[in-house]
Amino acid sequence: MKDGTARRTPLVEERRRVPAEEWWRTEGGFFLLTEAHRAEEGPKAAAFLEKVLRLPPGSRLLDMACGWGRVSVELAAKGYRVVGVDCSKVLRLGRLLAQQRGVVVDLVRGDMRRWSCPPVFDAALLWGMSFGYFSDRQNVEVLRHVGRSVRPGGRVVLDLHHRDWYLANYLGEHVDLVQGKVSHDEATFDLSGGRLNILSTVADGQGKVLARQWHSFREYTPEEVLSRVRSAGLEVASVHASLEPRPCPPGPADSSWQVIARRPRSLRPTERGLRTA
Ligand SMILES: C[S@@+](CC[C@H](N)C(=O)[O-])C[C@H]1O[C@@H](n2cnc3c(N)ncnc32)[C@H](O)[C@@H]1O
Repeated sequence: MKDGTARRTPLVEERRRVPAEEWWRTEGGFFLLTEAHRAEEGPKAAAFLEKVLRLPPGSRLLDMACGWGRVSVELAAKGYRVVGVDCSKVLRLGRLLAQQRGVVVDLVRGDMRRWSCPPVFDAALLWGMSFGYFSDRQNVEVLRHVGRSVRPGGRVVLDLHHRDWYLANYLGEHVDLVQGKVSHDEATFDLSGGRLNILSTVADGQGKVLARQWHSFREYTPEEVLSRVRSAGLEVASVHASLEPRPCPPGPADSSWQVIARRPRSLRPTERGLRTA
């Protein structure tokens, strides 16, 4: 630009106003336009969870940051009693989908940073890269809150980006054709904050921009995730790569990995509500 200042688009302006961890506030219908094409990931996730958790139908599951419920609805269809929590309006779409599938899912609006409930769940999920939005301290707190929602011996499942894969394969521009729409991602990695920032745009066949959103994830190494799981008072039960039910650490070709954590069966005195001397 002539005066040396770059023109700021409304999205960049919005990004300046909204803190990194609240990137979802910029969504403006984005999930409705783009995420629906990832619907097939719901059944894959539910099949993995069924095999790995081996919980009987009727077990109670918490799907924290459930989005539009692609996983919640599939789990409900398998006979689990599911509560999905999300802070965004995409829950409305989840309610519609559940109705269409003829399943009951309790989809409630809530903020995972302030979540608290009695330990009634057999397992809880932070699925689809729903862990790592906040400061390091807050991320561990979220994990602790979610962990306290499951009964002693209950599991917490994380489905995460494999950081090494994203750094090796996802930085720069990506263009995809999805159901007649052009999906464009521009990804950068902020080394100092350890965050992957993605600006996503969806346009119609004529190039008209339909929606834009930026995403910002704290990308931990597997070792860092496991150390945060333990800091949140959970034990690591197993680690999986790319939804493989057999435990194995993620390799260079795996873009996602999963952690099955367990709430210890015997709680510490402070967790039982007893005061330590
Ligand atoms: C990447 S999406 C994953 C959605 C879902 N788990 C799935 O696999 O389809 C992340 C979700 O986290 C939600 N989210 C972001 N911050 C949140 C918060 N503070 N409390 C609850 N949900 C939040 C967003 O609204 C979004 O639906």
